[in-house]
Amino acid sequence: MATTNTMLKVNGLKVAYGGIQAVKGISFEVQQGELISLIGANGAGKTTTLKAVTGTQPMAAGEIEFLGKPIRGRGAWDLVKEGLVMVPEGRGTFTRMTITENLQMGAFIRNDREIEADMDKMFALFPRLKERRNQLAGTMSGGEQQMLAMGRALMARPKLLILDEPSMGLSPIMVDKIFEVVNDVHSQGMTVLLVEQNASRALGLANRGYVMDSGEITMEGPAKQLLDDPKVRAAYLGE
Ligand SMILES: Nc1ncnc2c1ncn2[C@@H]1O[C@H](COP(=O)(O)OP(=O)(O)OP(=O)(O)O)[C@@H](O)[C@H]1O
Ligand SMILES: [Mg+2]
Repeated sequence: MATTNTMLKVNGLKVAYGGIQAVKGISFEVQQGELISLIGANGAGKTTTLKAVTGTQPMAAGEIEFLGKPIRGRGAWDLVKEGLVMVPEGRGTFTRMTITENLQMGAFIRNDREIEADMDKMFALFPRLKERRNQLAGTMSGGEQQMLAMGRALMARPKLLILDEPSMGLSPIMVDKIFEVVNDVHSQGMTVLLVEQNASRALGLANRGYVMDSGEITMEGPAKQLLDDPKVRAAYLGE
């Protein structure tokens, strides 16, 4: 019998900010090796969901399991060490550090001997970062900072890579580059949870997708099926 390997399981998650319910009891899961897209309009609750998953926002109800173990009560840092790594909305690079230093920070939790080799891999994946390796992160363009943020996350050797709107605010060429890298990383075996407003591109790469609206998951299914769904096309693909 084939066994599926559940990397992330979210069950009945609710998150509130004071009296405001931002996430109203959602359930979804990510299997090992999958690329899952979570799409939805502004304010749908996508980032809030990711904050709960990464242990940076308390849950009001529900359960989240990463690699079969509840995350409740475990710190964000502990989860990073277990391989749950997020590139946050807005990138979160260390602006006053160089590119090399930012990448080294990504490997801070590691003590193996392959950190230097992984740095070389990041520079191969993002030649632009190599050219600029001594430049301060804060002086780089938005697209370069997104590459750096992704490179830094990969330096942690994640088991699950979570990306919150990586293409936001980027030029078309940079958007292409970012989606290309997401696709490459997934093709090499990485499990990815991709939150995007660029629904067509995100679903174009994903295995499965979830649509979030006003704190609830309103649709889910194979990415291709969602891409072909008239309701998705009307609401999220501008048709
Ligand atoms: N720190 C906060 N305090 C109070 N309300 C918040 C906070 N953060 C988010 N919210 C509210 O929670 C709801 C969900 O926000 P969230 O950022 O999760 O949406 P999103 O789907 O990520 O949107 P976007 O696509 O614009 O990033 C929104 O109504 C937002 O105003
Ligand atoms: Mg968001």
